[in-house]
Amino acid sequence: MAAVNGTAPPGPPLPALIQTFAFVLAPGRYITACQRRYGDVVTFSTKFDSNFVMVFDPAIVKQVFQAGPDRLHAGKANALLAPVLGDRSILLLDGEEHLRQRKLMLPPFHGRRLSAYEDVMREAADRAIDSWPVGEDFTLMPSMQMLTLEVIMRTVFGFEEGARKDELTRRIRAMLDPVSRRIGVVLLALSGGRFGTRRVVESFERRRAEVDTMIFEEIARRREAPDLEERDDIFSMLVLARDEDGRALSDRELRDELVTLLVAGHETTATGLAWAFDLLLHDPRVMAKLRDGDDDEYLDAVVKETLRARPVIPGVGRVVQEEPFALNGYEIPVGIEINPSITGVHRCAYARHTEFRPERFLEPDPPDTYTWIPFGGGVRRCLGAPFALMEMRTVVRRVLERARLEAAAPPDRVLRRGITMVPKHGVRVIQRRPPS
Ligand code: HEM
Repeated sequence: MAAVNGTAPPGPPLPALIQTFAFVLAPGRYITACQRRYGDVVTFSTKFDSNFVMVFDPAIVKQVFQAGPDRLHAGKANALLAPVLGDRSILLLDGEEHLRQRKLMLPPFHGRRLSAYEDVMREAADRAIDSWPVGEDFTLMPSMQMLTLEVIMRTVFGFEEGARKDELTRRIRAMLDPVSRRIGVVLLALSGGRFGTRRVVESFERRRAEVDTMIFEEIARRREAPDLEERDDIFSMLVLARDEDGRALSDRELRDELVTLLVAGHETTATGLAWAFDLLLHDPRVMAKLRDGDDDEYLDAVVKETLRARPVIPGVGRVVQEEPFALNGYEIPVGIEINPSITGVHRCAYARHTEFRPERFLEPDPPDTYTWIPFGGGVRRCLGAPFALMEMRTVVRRVLERARLEAAAPPDRVLRRGITMVPKHGVRVIQRRPPS
């Protein structure tokens, strides 16, 4: 569609209330229909956000991801997460403050540091596999959630087996379970107080305080730990980290970043894994190729294609700052949120997009940084992407080595839950014989 200089992008002329229903009841179908009708940049309006702009084309997404950190703010777009994550969370900060925090948090997520976590991931997979029943069907999603939480507890928090790890895990689940089940309602309640009851808010705040008490105790212990320098968990590295002015993270900053890593890192990866098995168990061709080959490249392609075909997060947000933002010939006013649509790009930019075809990532012209965007992009790209990809590869490989799973239901349906796109029935599977 031709863009007219300086105007707002086109969009459906429907009242916000009607659009809100469309977003709640059939978001996929509504967004696709609007994209077909209005093009690659579309203005929407709902009761939650009176005006926002979705982007579906990789070249235009590139303009958004490459914009300077002072022009587009992601922290503002993530503000709804503040009650859980805390206002010093990297996800909520912008500009200089965000860059400082990001530099402090980046080192543990790279190279040698990261490969130290592979064994932990394999052990967590073994534990999950050993807990599965034989001969009766079960739901994979909760098992994957336990697995990824276990990985975070050990790699991020540095816990060994023991009562403290079990107690913190229990408190975290008590805080997050009600929020993730009813995230829309509860977060809106917490942010505006308009939709929730006082009781819901109070009970959440009590549970958060129980988590915080334990985390602050752990921070105090860790600051005193004699073996801090030798430990390879992310918590200890963050305690030791110093910025360019030699400043360490405060207790509050540490708390917020630890909770952020936990929240950002475990449900997302568990969902990615559940989808990987759902797709594999319904695709004998890909499954056979993966089982028969001893090929890390194909495994990597399977993981990437999973996140392409079933992106866990449907889109990311950036709010325009300072002056109107020029986007593909349109002008987006200050204060308006631009949403690169991950789901939209993963559909439009791929031939035969409904097919599960890992080979896409092995062909001569594989998808690039702006075509494959399950982890967002630019200075806000997911810090845990290499961690998540390694965890998915390790767990898929281990399950294939040890277990024979079969699908116990048709391919699962995509359901939007909070900010993630989960398998509606949690992926029903069956294990026919005991694992090796
Ligand atoms: C399959 C699993 C995962 C998916 C799909 C995912 C996706 C995302 C997305 C879409 C963003 C926002 C990016 C943007 O705004 O451009 C993000 C940010 C982030 N993710 Fe992940 N993530 C995953 C796993 C993880 C893991 C394992 C961790 C850490 C242990 C993690 C930590 C973070 C952090 C700290 C940010 C904020 C980055 C910033 O604002 O600078 N994520 N993730």
